Amino acid sequence: MDTTAVVTLLLRWAHVLAAIAAFGGLLFARFGVVPALAEIDAPTRDRIHEAIRRRWLPWVIGAITVLLVSGLANFLIFNARVKADPAFWGATWMRDTSYHALFGAKFLVAMVMFYFASALVGRGAGTQWVRNDRAKWLTVTLALGLVVVLISGWMRQLHTGPNAAPLAAAATMSN
Ligand code: HEM
Repeated sequence: MDTTAVVTLLLRWAHVLAAIAAFGGLLFARFGVVPALAEIDAPTRDRIHEAIRRRWLPWVIGAITVLLVSGLANFLIFNARVKADPAFWGATWMRDTSYHALFGAKFLVAMVMFYFASALVGRGAGTQWVRNDRAKWLTVTLALGLVVVLISGWMRQLHTGPNAAPLAAAATMSN
């Protein structure tokens, strides 16, 4: 394996593991923690929420940091690879496949998701409205996460899918 392949594999592992931690944590909070705590008295519930919030906060910040760094690095490396070999990819591959547009959409949705994920474990007065209705905003954050994962799989399939041969390669094959 060459160096680029090792780096991209490490980035992929980091990215996917952070996504699993973020999405899995939201899912467990929404359908495990919140309904279970709704059954107990308010003062105890608030104490438990606070205890979980404090411990879960570093994981949320860690996951967001890893997702941002590995995701941007992955995007830049892939962009450079496509640009470096126009004979293989076709000069307008990014535009023709909408890869760039999908990346832009994913990035924006991910930013909104990060805002809510941070607000849910934050304690600032400005984001208290999110924690006042945890179940609702956890559902919204999960929906945003789902959109991000669907777009990610779509982006990946654009260059690895069974019928997604790059333009130039497809042209060569049909000759
Ligand atoms: C702003 C932050 C993010 C950036 C810049 C980013 C960027 C990327 C890039 C460039 C890829 C590679 C796509 C390809 O193979 O062509 C990717 C894959 C992926 N991303 Fe992100 N991402 C971000 C946040 C997230 C979040 C929040 C999640 C989910 C919670 C996520 C889940 C995934 C998954 C599951 C893949 C792998 C898709 C697959 O292999 O099928 N990403 N991301």
